[in-house]
Amino acid sequence: MDLAAVILAAGKGTRMKSKLPKVLHPVCGSPMLSCVIDAVTGAGVGKTVVVAGCGADLVAREVGGRAEVVLQAEQLGTAHALAQAGPLLRDFTGSLLVLCGDTPLIEAGTLADLIDNHRATGVSATVLTTEMADPAGYGRVVRDGQGRVAKIVEQKDASPAEEQVREVNTGIYCFEVAGLFNALDRITPANAQGEYYLTDIIDIYVRSGQAVGAVILKDPNEVKGINDRVQLAEVEQYMRRRVLGDLMKAGVTVIDPLSTFVDRNARVGCDTVIHPFTIIEGKTVIGEDCVIGPGARLVDSTVGNGVSIQNSVILKSYLGDRCSVGPFAYLRPDTRLGLGVKVGDFVEIKKSVIGDGSKVPHLSYVGDATVGKKVNIGAGTITCNYDGKKKWPTRIGDGAFIGSNTNLVAPVEVGEQAFTGAGSTITKSIPAGALGVERAKQTVVENWSGRKAVKKNTLS
Ligand code: UD1
Ligand code: CA
Repeated sequence: MDLAAVILAAGKGTRMKSKLPKVLHPVCGSPMLSCVIDAVTGAGVGKTVVVAGCGADLVAREVGGRAEVVLQAEQLGTAHALAQAGPLLRDFTGSLLVLCGDTPLIEAGTLADLIDNHRATGVSATVLTTEMADPAGYGRVVRDGQGRVAKIVEQKDASPAEEQVREVNTGIYCFEVAGLFNALDRITPANAQGEYYLTDIIDIYVRSGQAVGAVILKDPNEVKGINDRVQLAEVEQYMRRRVLGDLMKAGVTVIDPLSTFVDRNARVGCDTVIHPFTIIEGKTVIGEDCVIGPGARLVDSTVGNGVSIQNSVILKSYLGDRCSVGPFAYLRPDTRLGLGVKVGDFVEIKKSVIGDGSKVPHLSYVGDATVGKKVNIGAGTITCNYDGKKKWPTRIGDGAFIGSNTNLVAPVEVGEQAFTGAGSTITKSIPAGALGVERAKQTVVENWSGRKAVKKNTLS
């Protein structure tokens, strides 16, 4: 049987007070609209239409190939929004899931249950409802004497008695598409907000003798809608708890879930331990048996197995198995560490490849460099990669030993097994096995402290 979905996402989200369309505000790293699309896809929906309006270009870019996008030029209400998808569904016969782009916690399983129930009962429309301790802001579900759904009343149109109702409309429905778009034409904006309410369709169906059903969702948090930034933060917290819960169930230790932040598209392997104050963002993938944090931030990076990262920032980088990073290291985009590389304290690495078993233990800047295997880079080494106009490369061969406080003025090459003397400013390439030293000969002036002009150092 055919199954399609329409996601209503045209509203500006006035209460967000933002330049960004509401549905593009991220929740655990994904725009809320993407969370909804993922749930719809997960429920087995083949064809999805997103109704966009405010910031439609941005919305369409985010949607990409995952759904068709239709424009609702003026936001006249949810019924009007759904009507815009009509032409795209002209040839469609079957069930239609309708949901809002601002309820990102919705899960695929819940949608699948709604669809199953809708089909099993053979009704024209099924509303997903839930009981809320505080139903403020949501449409109330009004039932008749037999307990059947009679209508949905928006809060602003509700009588005092209706306002007391705790069962609310989640804004998620399953409809039979046959007759739906004709029925939408009968909705008028005769209400407190002067909008075409999709919720009015329930009353229209009931009055015309078409069967309407309801599925009550147990956990109201799953359908929390986001209208302002306070709700955005609340939903983020639920999503975070869910992401961390899934990781823990899959064998990841999260020492303190309250101070750990993992985006919903990140992956973490079994037996990895995540210490507090760690932020794992974007499409980061972390292997097994790692120790991450405390205080690590990783963005769109890939980390192998058995890696340890302490108090460091890692952006768009790749770390091979058994690397050790930090504390206080900064790996910038396009950094690639081989197997068992050590990057120690106060080291910055940018757009560089560091070979297997190499060490950059302390206080260095390595940029635009290709470093071989088993290289040791002494404390304070700097690649001088920028001449004020252009970035230049540095190459260091396998087994080379870079003395402390070396300046490598790029473009420059240090051959395999070559050495640089501590404190040298290397401007000429050093062949394999050679030593490059560049520093003035040391002068020793005897009895310096005995001179009148010199202030005595008091040793006690
Ligand atoms: C809506 C429901 C309410 C329900 C609540 C659940 C109606 C009339 N009310 O109220 O019963 O309890 O959702 O969260 O449907 N949109 C458009 N075009 C428009 C208007 C809205 O695309 O012209 C989209 C918005 O972008 C949003 C969704 O529809 O994603 C819901 O709109 P919103 O204004 O947030 O409706 P609520 O007042 O929350
Ligand atoms: Ca809403």
